[in-house]
Amino acid sequence: MTGLNGVQVSSSAVTTDPLSWLDERATARTAAGLRRHLRVREPEQASIDLASNDYLGLVRHPEVIEGAIAAVRRWGTGSTGSRLVTGTTAEHELLETELAEFVGAEAGLVFASGYAANLGVVTALAGRDSFIVSDAGSHASLVDACRLSRARIAVAPHRDVAAVDRLLDERVEERALVLTDSVFSADGDLAPLADLHRVTRANGAVLVVDEAHGLGVRGAGGRGLVHELGLAGQPDLVITATLSKAFAAQGGVVLADNRIRAHLIDAARTFIFDTGLAPAAVGAARAALSLLRRDPAMATRVLDRAADIARVAGVPEPTSAVVSVVLGDAQRAYDAAQACRARGLEVGCFRPPSVPEGTSRLRLTARADLTAAELDTIAEVLGEVLAEARGDALVV
Ligand SMILES: Cc1ncc(COP(=O)(O)O)c(C=O)c1O
Repeated sequence: MTGLNGVQVSSSAVTTDPLSWLDERATARTAAGLRRHLRVREPEQASIDLASNDYLGLVRHPEVIEGAIAAVRRWGTGSTGSRLVTGTTAEHELLETELAEFVGAEAGLVFASGYAANLGVVTALAGRDSFIVSDAGSHASLVDACRLSRARIAVAPHRDVAAVDRLLDERVEERALVLTDSVFSADGDLAPLADLHRVTRANGAVLVVDEAHGLGVRGAGGRGLVHELGLAGQPDLVITATLSKAFAAQGGVVLADNRIRAHLIDAARTFIFDTGLAPAAVGAARAALSLLRRDPAMATRVLDRAADIARVAGVPEPTSAVVSVVLGDAQRAYDAAQACRARGLEVGCFRPPSVPEGTSRLRLTARADLTAAELDTIAEVLGEVLAEARGDALVV
């Protein structure tokens, strides 16, 4: 048989399905209860949302919507190119200055996503000649950033400062980075940032802290865990964050000193070769930040609502907006999530590979704007569903 380019190809090669392994993987995932499904949601949901990261409940706030619309009217629907070519507006720079000022950093640089911010900063600050220690619970974007950097990588046990210290001390490379989330996304627990920064500095390394789940929630007025611990503005500490959670928009940011910002503009590939953050996202994030500054108690309200949810779920009081209810088996967690959904409660369900085998869980996220009536419904639904799921767990 003749192929499109005139080259002879054997018909047996054409009939063999090179993607048949996908069916085998899908079958195995189905058997393990690990299939993932996309659900189209309605614009107006009757259900209560405990699955999103809209911690401050701002994605439909009129001022945030107006911020996005005004930016689109002024700048159009897209950024039109890389930030270095056509994609930087005055509004991008204002957002960077405002975010930096908010967390107590010297400067900021926004990216198209939090994922891109993490890939950009880690690959720009580490290379073949460097060493990276990453916490075992670091977000997938930091894990991928390590791989892309081509640095030598060590994964330190979760929250183990002594291990980080030892690994840094034993390294042969001069340059080193330490990577961690401030608030870990699966369990919502906190990194021991003060101690980590101490050992990072003592070993001449740089600490990169992903504040995706910390901003808007921890620290005075939601300024994040780095700020809360008095570490803001340290030259050897870099903050990364997403604008898609508390800031109700989309995009990512690196907050650090001016030298690092300048280096990222020259060297971060996800900055240079990626289209700039869309104007609508910039406008929305600026409006959300302005609302948070006007009502700093929003951050406290998130933590208060998280404590309410934890109480009714029978788990310890959380230190962040994330309430993790471990149920063990992947199928049990999935069934419990479905049961919540059927009763009008949207919850997250984390299963391997997002969490270790045997620790599948419901992941409930608090929002600052949950009402008393919604909290009553949450108590009722979780009470029923968890009693069933945990009763089930006892007989297995
Ligand atoms: C800890 C953490 N870092 C980074 C990201 C990626 O951010 P983005 O969704 O803006 O790409 C997320 C999730 O979205 C996250 O939870």
